[in-house]
Amino acid sequence: MRIPKLLLAVIIIALAYFVLKIPSGHHLIPASVIRIYMFFITVGVLLVMTFSEESAQALSAPIVSLLGDPAKKVLRTIVFIIVPLFFGYLTYNNVKPSFEAPVELRTVHPAPPSSVKMFGKSFNLLTLESPVRKDTANFAANVKAGGELYFKNCFYCHGDKLDGRGHYAHGFNPLPANFQDVGTITQLQESYVFWRAATGGPGLPKEATPWLSAMPIWQNFVTEDELWKIILFLYDYTGHVPRVMKEEGKKEAMAPAVKPGDVGFMAVAYAEEKGAAAGPKQIYEKRCAWCHGWEGAGDGPAAEFLNPRPRDFTSGVYKYKTSPFDQPVPSDEDVLRTIKEGLPGTSMPGWTDLLSESDMKGLVTYLKTFSGIEKEKVATQVDTGKQVSSSDESIKKGKDLFIDRCSECHGEAGRGDAIKALKTDWGDRVWPRNLTKSWTLRRGSDPKEIFTRISTGISGTPMPSFADPENKKKLSEEERWHVVNYVKSVQKEAKEGEAVVKGIKIEGEVPTDPADPKWDAAEATTFPLVPNIIAKERFFIPTIDDITLKAFYNDKEMAFLIEWDDRTKSIPGDSKAAELAEGEMNEDAVAVQLPVTVPEGLEKPYFGHGDGSHPVNIWRWGSGTTAQPEKISLLDAKGIGQVAPREGESNLTGKGVYDKGRWRVVIKRSLQTGDKEKDLQFEPGRFVPISFATWDGSNGEKGSKHELTTWYWVFLKPPTGSNVFVTPVIVMLLVFGGELLLAKQVRKK
Ligand code: HEC
Ligand code: HEC
Ligand code: HEC
Repeated sequence: MRIPKLLLAVIIIALAYFVLKIPSGHHLIPASVIRIYMFFITVGVLLVMTFSEESAQALSAPIVSLLGDPAKKVLRTIVFIIVPLFFGYLTYNNVKPSFEAPVELRTVHPAPPSSVKMFGKSFNLLTLESPVRKDTANFAANVKAGGELYFKNCFYCHGDKLDGRGHYAHGFNPLPANFQDVGTITQLQESYVFWRAATGGPGLPKEATPWLSAMPIWQNFVTEDELWKIILFLYDYTGHVPRVMKEEGKKEAMAPAVKPGDVGFMAVAYAEEKGAAAGPKQIYEKRCAWCHGWEGAGDGPAAEFLNPRPRDFTSGVYKYKTSPFDQPVPSDEDVLRTIKEGLPGTSMPGWTDLLSESDMKGLVTYLKTFSGIEKEKVATQVDTGKQVSSSDESIKKGKDLFIDRCSECHGEAGRGDAIKALKTDWGDRVWPRNLTKSWTLRRGSDPKEIFTRISTGISGTPMPSFADPENKKKLSEEERWHVVNYVKSVQKEAKEGEAVVKGIKIEGEVPTDPADPKWDAAEATTFPLVPNIIAKERFFIPTIDDITLKAFYNDKEMAFLIEWDDRTKSIPGDSKAAELAEGEMNEDAVAVQLPVTVPEGLEKPYFGHGDGSHPVNIWRWGSGTTAQPEKISLLDAKGIGQVAPREGESNLTGKGVYDKGRWRVVIKRSLQTGDKEKDLQFEPGRFVPISFATWDGSNGEKGSKHELTTWYWVFLKPPTGSNVFVTPVIVMLLVFGGELLLAKQVRKK
């Protein structure tokens, strides 16, 4: 059977559309880019199909027959009505105001300058070569040194597996480069990688949107020699070879063969080269030791940058196990599951993509040898008994039990706002889980998992077992199920990929009280927060992980409702608050950053405090101390650290309320301030870059030590004007007229 040409064309175009719609990796292709691709695909298909007179006729035959054949009158009438309606609908969708963020395209590998100033001297990138790579005698030692530096400086963005998925990567756009991918360092000469790392995001030329890249300026933090060693490690760990410009034969010389005498992780490559399997010790040293330490004591080079810290395997204590509370040893399956799936909400990744099942099983036994428990066997598993299905009644019972048994640690609303400071057996500060954030539960949020955790507790931490008869607050099996049902009822699901704070126009005054019920009608948007790990002074152990925004405006003013979970209300001067603080206490705070002028095209200020030619406004709200009430300030900034408060009239007001582990702050400003030189002027219908920062004062956060977001957008959605309806009607009339004309022509022929 032959498929009619017209149908074939339609099928090809539809297929192309579906392929483009499939999400690739983290990101969807923006609709406007899809429209551009679809235009070219359609034109391409038509060009090919109308190449010869014959094929053009075959393609148009069904259309001609529809337009001209008297027998097809009914069908013709239907088509003549449907087609204009379809175009009217498309037009309506196009002209109605929407919150879809503008597209930003960037050149990933821009041409480098031929000579650059780095580390205080001039370098010629065309002739620059790695001095460290030439030192073949110390190759293994240099790779190891480079690895240690990588795990102190780069892994929280570029990933412990060098795959661009470090535990803070999700907070940035563009995402950190994936060095495992063949599209990054394999394409590049080492001198290029050196230039990119030394000068970071701000060192990029304009076509690569330097104002968006979170890549730090590494010449500020490491030495020249150290940077070359890190680069050596990048290639060695991924097994890639840098690109060389000159002779082809030089490629081999770039990666000296591993010697039989090499120890630890270097022996993995040796074993692989010889076709033999590497042992668990070698795999451990290549993949795990950077965090868990060369001797398993949880003290690898990355450890001090992590909270929670990597497990100390010499203690033999494992947190996530299914063996009952009175059996300290985890089953092999428990440990295997951690290695396979990782622990969500921590930096511990899952390893199924890089390690085989037998490698991982070998690691389970190997880890247990650090504490000599490899021979101990676990007999029973926690019995989940008879699951009580969720109902209003069960949730209510669960809530009462939760308030009684759990709230002193997990807070009344489950946000982990404990009333006392808690420590692990290893002496580290530990916060009870914020149970409302389902995605941070280490074993996932399946009811059976939560039941198991409540039953066995979490070893090494204050989280007790509620099946243990010695626990004065013990819960029966049924009671534990009620608590689980309550926990499930307060949980939220993760939201990802949002980019626009949605400003909605309202009649009357904008609400200035965080508790105003009007806010319920606004649309919430949530962005991830990551600590400032980019500019001095860097900060690694945040306690706040996301921020939620709502916005309203009227003819004169706009108001943002800013909400975030913070386990402590930090009040300098208050002795009760001081008991919960880690070291020095400061006030809690939030800041909104906006460009002073919205630049034409793509250009924006650098996302960290702007730059000389692109200043930013910062609105900072501070929660105050026992001596001073809450306060909102207006700051002008034109570069990292170049921030100055502006005194006098500011048009800004701020009001905050802390309740059960959550801050809700309303910041209001007039849309226009009249000072275009100094202040951003808000206008409905325009996308404005916006970013946020938060400080948890009880966590020692102050100054540059804070959480931040990258640039997102705020959009004040204009009220739906009459053109939104008029334009589609005009389009429909035009299309209908076109149809009539065509039909007339066909009949003439
Ligand atoms: C705060 C997060 C962050 C940290 C920490 C970080 N990077 Fe990056 N890096 C990025 C982002 C985001 C990009 C992608 C945007 C860009 O190219 O600037 C990137 C890109 C790169 C690139 C460019 C790759 C390419 O294909 O063009 C190199 C090379 C690089 N990083 C090296 C490093 C090294 C080496 C370290 C540690 C010394 C490091 N990065 C630490 C965020 C980070
Ligand atoms: C980037 C750092 C990092 C790397 C690399 C890493 N881990 Fe972890 N790992 C952690 C952290 C952090 C924890 C502790 C999480 C917690 O306390 O909740 C952890 C915990 C564990 C646990 C303890 C689970 C429990 O129940 O207590 C095991 C087992 C483990 N890791 C195995 C491994 C193995 C095997 C590798 C290598 C294949 C590895 N890890 C690589 C960071 C890392
Ligand atoms: C004495 C303080 C304390 C009490 C009481 C307590 N918890 Fe916890 N809980 C913790 C701490 C601390 C953690 C986090 C441990 C860690 O991350 O290492 C935790 C973690 C959890 C987790 C996280 C499990 C995961 O997979 O991530 C759940 C669920 C939980 N607790 C539920 C409860 C419930 C339900 C109750 C009451 C029946 C309760 N807890 C009572 C301190 C407590």
